[in-house]
Amino acid sequence: MATTHDFVIAPGGQLTGRIRIPGDKSICHRALLLGAIANGTTHVSNFLESADCLATLACLQTLGVKIERTLPNCVTIEGVGMHGLQAPKRELDCGNSGTSLRLLAGVLAGQPFESMLTGDASLCRRPMLRIIEPLTRMGAVIQSMSGYAPLAIHGRRPLAPLRYEIPIASAQVKSSLLLAGLQADGETWLMEPVETRDHTERMLPSFGCMVLHDDEWLGICGGNYLSAAEITVPGDLSSAAFFMIGTAAQPAAHIIIEGMGVNPSRKGVLHVLQTMGADILLLHEQMLGNEPVADVEVTGGNLRGVDIGPEVVPFVIDELPALLIAAASAHGVTTLRGASELRVKESDRLQAMATGLRTLGVEVDLWDDGLRVTGRKDFRGGVVDSFGDHRIAMAFAIAGLKTHSPLRIRDCRNVDTSFPGFADLARSVGLCIDVREMPNA
Ligand code: S3P
Repeated sequence: MATTHDFVIAPGGQLTGRIRIPGDKSICHRALLLGAIANGTTHVSNFLESADCLATLACLQTLGVKIERTLPNCVTIEGVGMHGLQAPKRELDCGNSGTSLRLLAGVLAGQPFESMLTGDASLCRRPMLRIIEPLTRMGAVIQSMSGYAPLAIHGRRPLAPLRYEIPIASAQVKSSLLLAGLQADGETWLMEPVETRDHTERMLPSFGCMVLHDDEWLGICGGNYLSAAEITVPGDLSSAAFFMIGTAAQPAAHIIIEGMGVNPSRKGVLHVLQTMGADILLLHEQMLGNEPVADVEVTGGNLRGVDIGPEVVPFVIDELPALLIAAASAHGVTTLRGASELRVKESDRLQAMATGLRTLGVEVDLWDDGLRVTGRKDFRGGVVDSFGDHRIAMAFAIAGLKTHSPLRIRDCRNVDTSFPGFADLARSVGLCIDVREMPNA
C-alpha cells in the first residue's frame, strides 16, 4: 500500500541548545557543477547529502564525471574540463530540484550533443522560459513542453556571447547564464533587476575565473579554463531559519547555530526578524573561502508584525514560509507584497501557507502577490498539507511549537530534498516531533 510520511508535533516543545546545520544547498550545487567542468580534482567538504544535491551529482555522473562520496559529507570530483563531458545515454533526472535543472541547462547549452533534462511532477510545472529564451539567443537549440520540462537541449560550441537584462530576480537564471557564458566566444554581460544570491560569482574565482563588474553589469569571459578547487561549504542559512524563527517567537527559548553562512545576499531573514523585535547576535564572524560565516545566537521573545515589501523579497525568498509562521505568532498584522515568485516554487507557497495557517486558526488574506496575516498567541492543532514541499513542511513543523493540541503535517518526505535529518535535529533541541508512515488516503 502506498504510504505518506507525516510529521506529528505534540504541544509543549521549546527550542534550546547548540547545533550545526548541514551544508548550504545552493553552494553545493555550484561546487559540483564547477568542479565537473574544471581541470583537476576538486574536494568539497561539509557537502549536503540531500536529494536535490544528489540529483545534480547523479546527472553529472551520467555525463561521464567521476564523483565519489569519500568521507561522510565529503565528495571528490574528477573534473573533465570544459570539453570533457560525454553525451548522456539516458535522461538527466533532476528530481524536485529547480537549481539542478536550470544550472545544468546553462552547462549543457554549450556542449555539442543532445541531452534531455527532466524532473518530478512539481519541477515539470515550474517555468523554464526564463532560461530557454536567453540560452536560445546564445545559440542553443532547446525544445520544451510549451516552456516546461522536459527540455531537450542541443548545445552549440562555442556559444554566442550575450548582453542581457534579466527580467526577473533569479539567481538560478543568472547562474545558468554565467555557466553558459563560460562557454561563449567573448564576454557575456548580465544585469539583474535586483541583486540575488551571489554564490556563483563568489565561487568562480576559487576555480581561477575572474568575474567582471561594470556598474550594475556582471561579466564573464568565455573560453577560459577552470582549475580545481578546495571548497568547504558553510551551514545553510535557509535551513537554519526554521530554528531561528522557532526560537525567536518563543519567550525563554534560546539557540546557538554554529558555522552558518551569512552571505549578505541571503541575510534578509535576519533583518526582517530583527525588525520584528527578535534578539539575534552574530558571533565569530569569519570568511570560509569567499563566503562569510558566523555563529548565530537567538534568544526568544515576543515578535511584532511587519511589512515585507517587494524590495526585500529576493533576500528572503526561501525563508518566507518560515517568516509567515513568525508573522502568525507576532503581535499585530504582517503584510507580504511582491512575492508572486512564491507561486512557482516547489509548490504554490502563497496558497499552501494561506491554507495551512487558516487550519491553525490564523486570519489570512491571500492576494496574487502576497498575504496579510494577523498574528495570534497560539495556534489550533489539526492536519495541514505540505503539498509535497520541503519548506512548507518544516515551516509548519516549527508552528507546532505554538499549538495547544497535536499538529499533523501531511506528506513530508520531500524534507530530504534540502534537510535530511531535520526531524532528529529538531527533536534534539526540544521540538516534540515524530515521523509516521501513514496509509495514503
Ligand atoms: C537558488 C535560487 C532561488 C532559490 C532556490 C535556490 C539557487 O531560486 O529560491 O531555492 O541556488 O540559485 P530563483 O533563482 O528561482 O529565485
